[in-house]
Amino acid sequence: MRMKLGLLTLFCGVIFCLTNCNKQVTTATAALPSSTEIQPGTIESNDFIESLIAKMTVEEKVGQMTQYTGFFDPTGPVPKDGNIKEKYDAVKSGRVGSMLNVKTVKDVRALQKLAVENSRLGIPLIFGFDVIHGHKISAPIPLAESASWDLEAIEKSAANAAKEAAAVGINWTFAPMLDIGRDARWGRVMEGAGEDPYLGSKIGAARVKGFQGDDLSSPSTIAACAKHFAGYGYTEDGRDYNTTDFGTSTLYNVVLPPFKAAVDAGVQTFMNGFNDYNGIPVTGNEFLQRDLLKGQWEFDGFIVSDWGSIGEMVAHGYAEDNKHAAELAINAGSDMDMESYAYQAHLPKLVEDGKAKMELLDDAVRRILLVKQKLGLFDDPYLYCNEEREAEMANNQQIKDDALDIARKSIVLLKNEGNVLPLSKSIKKVAVIGQLAESKNSPLGSWRLGAEDDTAISVLEGLEPILGSNMTYQRGVELYSGVEGFVNELAINTDDRAGIDQAVALAKKSDIVIVVAGEHGYQSGEGRSRSDITLPGLQKEMLMKIKAVNPNIVLVLNNGRPLELSWEDENIPAIVEAWQLGAMAGNAIADVLFGDYNPSGKLPMTFPRSVGQVPAYYGVKSTGRGDAIDLVFWSHYSDISNTPLYPFGYGLSYTTFDYSAPQVTPTASGASVSVTVVNSGKVDGHEVVQLYIRDKAASITRPVKELKGFEKIFLKAGASQTVTFNLGDEELGFFNNDGEYIVEDGAFDVMVGGNCVDTKNDKFTRD
Ligand code: BGC
Repeated sequence: MRMKLGLLTLFCGVIFCLTNCNKQVTTATAALPSSTEIQPGTIESNDFIESLIAKMTVEEKVGQMTQYTGFFDPTGPVPKDGNIKEKYDAVKSGRVGSMLNVKTVKDVRALQKLAVENSRLGIPLIFGFDVIHGHKISAPIPLAESASWDLEAIEKSAANAAKEAAAVGINWTFAPMLDIGRDARWGRVMEGAGEDPYLGSKIGAARVKGFQGDDLSSPSTIAACAKHFAGYGYTEDGRDYNTTDFGTSTLYNVVLPPFKAAVDAGVQTFMNGFNDYNGIPVTGNEFLQRDLLKGQWEFDGFIVSDWGSIGEMVAHGYAEDNKHAAELAINAGSDMDMESYAYQAHLPKLVEDGKAKMELLDDAVRRILLVKQKLGLFDDPYLYCNEEREAEMANNQQIKDDALDIARKSIVLLKNEGNVLPLSKSIKKVAVIGQLAESKNSPLGSWRLGAEDDTAISVLEGLEPILGSNMTYQRGVELYSGVEGFVNELAINTDDRAGIDQAVALAKKSDIVIVVAGEHGYQSGEGRSRSDITLPGLQKEMLMKIKAVNPNIVLVLNNGRPLELSWEDENIPAIVEAWQLGAMAGNAIADVLFGDYNPSGKLPMTFPRSVGQVPAYYGVKSTGRGDAIDLVFWSHYSDISNTPLYPFGYGLSYTTFDYSAPQVTPTASGASVSVTVVNSGKVDGHEVVQLYIRDKAASITRPVKELKGFEKIFLKAGASQTVTFNLGDEELGFFNNDGEYIVEDGAFDVMVGGNCVDTKNDKFTRD
């Protein structure tokens, strides 16, 4: 019989029912929360903040809860009725508390001056920005960095981004994105840590710590923002902004853990999102924001809406109009309105009419002011405005060195048949083919709003110092045309074959062909979903023709999501996953191709065989028809295998690692697992040792594999190391459908290896 040993009530879904069951339902379209029943909860404050709140008019309070985009560089649709003069006046009169998309000391100083010198209470603005991977010096996209599995390097990368951003006046980043990404069609998987809640929690916490450091009031740290709360990654069909539909068990066990880890790491702000959860837009979702985040988790920072997401509740069919949306959002716990202008327009009247309680506004304002205080803005509103620091940080050599370090660590070697790689530096007649090889812009990736265009080292530039005149370049197909930019759609060429013949002719007379192919940096990211995840345009056709004349191909991939690469895997001997690696991309790629760095990255997302397998992830549930029981009636496709092309955790090295069988020793709360890893090849290298478990029978079915530990080790050729993992309550439990964390006795499988498929296994019983 199963016995519950631990019952740690971390989340409480029951509250959801209680609060929602008490709501009044009117005859109108949506359930109107009764503001008399909603309590703000308590957070710790201080005399300074409380006396400030006591002096504020309702308009000034709403001002603190209002965020405007910079008047210069919007990342979304600018409201039709917004004009610059009105916006300046709003800042001067204290009707704005925060700005986003302002990115120089000069502009921050100018706007801050308007706020502190003109508004009645002189409250400083907080400046937010999407500092997603590096700032002026672009670091690898977050999905790529996650492939490093190197928490220290990831934390350092976030800390560097914070230093750079803080130096241009920014106090707050809208990162890390903690949405679990299992659907490669969704363009925003590039912004996250991949498919796994365990890895996602560790990386999310590392990023929060990196951005915020130990001292938030230092002018080189900034507040972080856990986004998008919650479930945005479950967007149906992988189409951005689409509705989501996932169950309670998925919510608690997959979606929420990275957010809880961010709270535990001290994250100062949260952002809600565009999606709904159980039919309630998350921006208006009282359960998620008030009950769970601010209640159960005792989060004491503030929640900003996503861009226009308060107003979008009207389009969702949840709010009747913008005013109703403002009412739903404040009552649900959204503290700051990003670009819906709903709070500014309607909150004072809603308070007057008793539809929004003043206590809720006070709570929101208190949270916002406390973060401003922690950032040091009340002591010195210009703390982050220092032109000398701004100049010093631009192009900083140490940050570039760190960006190169993590770029190398992010590269994943997918295939290396016959040890084609590393290439010899004395190689002659090398063809380099593909438009992406010359691009100094695409490697910067999506969400690089702080970086200047064309500031990446291209692949050609990276190879030049090594190959010099031994290298000849042909663009081949013109992959894309149009304006490269955050708000533009790139046109992908599908009918211009003009360059293919020249590329093939070059390949024919070369000893080796390096083909750089994949997606342009702006083909992933927000609003960039794809239904076809093969190599875009005519790239595959070109590859096939090259292969017909010269099979010695090294395929260097640039992409922001898993791609469908079945043909490439079958036909190309060496494949290097090089994502969008940021400013130092070309050097990192050259280092790996010529063996100056031995690749060590491991995939944070499954690469499917076909888009038809998507969402593809390793932590699936076992079905009743999991094994091939007969020819037809089992859970499978009739055209392809169920297995992925490249599994989660996978990545090769120029050396090989052998794993011993795991030694499993029972402990009081579970087991300790030791494994000895030997570098059995000829060169030194890093290996990410991974531990997975399977709870064989539980009161709620558990995935067939769950990552529960990993360690990145360095082994000299011939050396070995024993790695020990502890499996205790924290690793062996799960959340039940009431949001309670439970640990159950019973049988567990233990799997250890260098990816989630090639493992050595054992088992134990917890009793
Ligand atoms: C995105 C957010 C981002 C915000 C501000 C929205 O469209 O969903 O992730 O932080 O814009 O740029």
